[in-house]
Amino acid sequence: MASGDLGAGESPADSGSETRPSGYRCGDVLLPVWPDGQEVKIYCDGVVALTRFADTAHYHQRLVDKVLAMESSDSHARRYFRGAGGIKVYDLPAWGIPEAELLHARALEMFRRALKTPKAQVDVCWANIFRDGDFIMPHSHTRSSESIVYFLSNGAEDRDNPLNGRFSVVDPRLEECCKDQEGRMTTPWVPPQTPGVMIMFPAAILHFVNPHRGEQPRISVAWNISEDKLPGAPIPDGAGPVV
Ligand SMILES: [Fe+2]
Repeated sequence: MASGDLGAGESPADSGSETRPSGYRCGDVLLPVWPDGQEVKIYCDGVVALTRFADTAHYHQRLVDKVLAMESSDSHARRYFRGAGGIKVYDLPAWGIPEAELLHARALEMFRRALKTPKAQVDVCWANIFRDGDFIMPHSHTRSSESIVYFLSNGAEDRDNPLNGRFSVVDPRLEECCKDQEGRMTTPWVPPQTPGVMIMFPAAILHFVNPHRGEQPRISVAWNISEDKLPGAPIPDGAGPVV
């Protein structure tokens, strides 16, 4: 991944005939997929990209309401064991609201801009609903080249534990995580997690989410993306969960 300002300027040219909407109407406001001046910052030896959207007041509440309404959906939701992140609600484009389409388009645009490519194919995408006590063990993602996570709601702040429900990278291949000795993972990298933050990282990088405690759910959204469509199903029957 290149360093520097990756957000501003034109989207990588589309080599095909695909027409991408430049914005989505959410309520009475037309929100751009990529706001003017939206910047992407680079971390962790140049392999993690982070941006923060400032217009979340126009689309977060409807997304939260929709995710929670689908929490019991037989067709889109799936409950995993506590250490796999609790409940997942799959397939944003099928949720039927423009706010989900906007967020999905922003993830795809993040991928194109960070990798400077016109091509982007989502393998699988889902929202995570963490209820009290849910967490995600250290893992990496399969199949896709990149993963993206977006923070929709952190639940209530826990003043006794600033790392409550925090996403962290714990990969011994990253200098950021091995500040005491090369190859020895001693320092989790904990990025900003303000709602509206979107982070892209190589799918192979080890990451986890600390246990979430609190009555209000923590909600994040995730994508696995590659330049080209991958063969086969992203979640084959009988396989372990994608987290
Ligand atoms: Fe993950």
